[in-house]
Amino acid sequence: MTGGEYGDGTRSVHAGLPAPEPGQPFLPGPVFAAPYHLDPVTGPARDGYGRPDNPTRRLLEAAIGELEGGEARAFASGQAAITAVLMAVLRPGDTVVLPSDGYYTVRSFAASTLDQLGVRVSYVPTAGPHPSFDGVRLVLLETPANPGLDVCDVAALSVAAHAAGALVAVDNTTATPLGQRPLDLGADFSVASGTKALTGHSDLLLGYAATRDAGLLERVTTWRTQTGGVPGAFDAWLAHRSMATLDLRLARQSANAAAVAMALAARSDVEHVRWPGLPDDPSYVVAERQMRRIPGLVSVDLGSAERVTAFLRASKLVFAATSFGGLHTSADRRAQWGDSTPEGFIRISCGVEDTADLVADITAALDAAA
Ligand SMILES: Cc1ncc(COP(=O)(O)O)c(C=O)c1O
Repeated sequence: MTGGEYGDGTRSVHAGLPAPEPGQPFLPGPVFAAPYHLDPVTGPARDGYGRPDNPTRRLLEAAIGELEGGEARAFASGQAAITAVLMAVLRPGDTVVLPSDGYYTVRSFAASTLDQLGVRVSYVPTAGPHPSFDGVRLVLLETPANPGLDVCDVAALSVAAHAAGALVAVDNTTATPLGQRPLDLGADFSVASGTKALTGHSDLLLGYAATRDAGLLERVTTWRTQTGGVPGAFDAWLAHRSMATLDLRLARQSANAAAVAMALAARSDVEHVRWPGLPDDPSYVVAERQMRRIPGLVSVDLGSAERVTAFLRASKLVFAATSFGGLHTSADRRAQWGDSTPEGFIRISCGVEDTADLVADITAALDAAA
């Protein structure tokens, strides 16, 4: 239903919906079941138990798979999905390349678990330079990287990794499948947190891994079945319902980010404004070529933790919160979580408020916090 002939709005609204059936809802409600009735004669069916499979989750996976252009498996969180890909692929003695500036819990997992299992971990900044991938089993890219928003060239790095015999996974959390399609760019996996802009209402945790390779799909599916990190039926349903507005939400978030980034860049009292859509941003050229739209995230250094506090207290529209991609504009001072960013560095996640209101509020709050 939602192939290449339709625009993003149509694809978002129709992704994963079953064929119309009179008397049935557009999106069937959540199926709450741990065990299902079994046929006493024929025994196990597709829906026999809720950990391996659930009809609500299948519809969500169909929707994500349509947008990513592959087959998807949903997980209880982005972290469950990323660790599933790592653990399904990597074996003792393997080398994995991880972004040094990506989501920090992936690095924590590498230090606490991959290291102990005898997997060699090498860290490379998203902006590069990327070393030779000889001897590497898996390259995980995160682009745009959270929180610094550097972008890397997925197509070129996939060619280099494949030539060396390595697999490529791209964390597509910040971009979402409407912002970029890693599988089209040559990656073996698109893996993401659906907690953020994909579902966008700040009310659930979700992750997924998508691939076009049947063998890799089988490995992450087996990992998920055996370790059990599945989303519940209600969260899966809520996620699918929320994805219908993905195109609308991203459009406003991106427009708001453009306006906020320009307003910040015009000020002399803030530093290092990053938004990959700004023509003088270091990531602009690759982002313009690779991405279908630029996400609603802007990063900036306000100079000190005290100024961030004063800014957040003065703002009426910017909530202090971690996570990102939601309807409400929020800002997160990353150093408070142990991220190696300057004390005054914040990641602003632009919501869907009116652009003029948001820019006026942020400008007034910065003036007040001068
Ligand atoms: C880029 C990125 N990947 C993965 C994750 C992990 O997602 P979750 O919190 O859904 O486990 C996050 C969370 O912030 C993230 O920003």
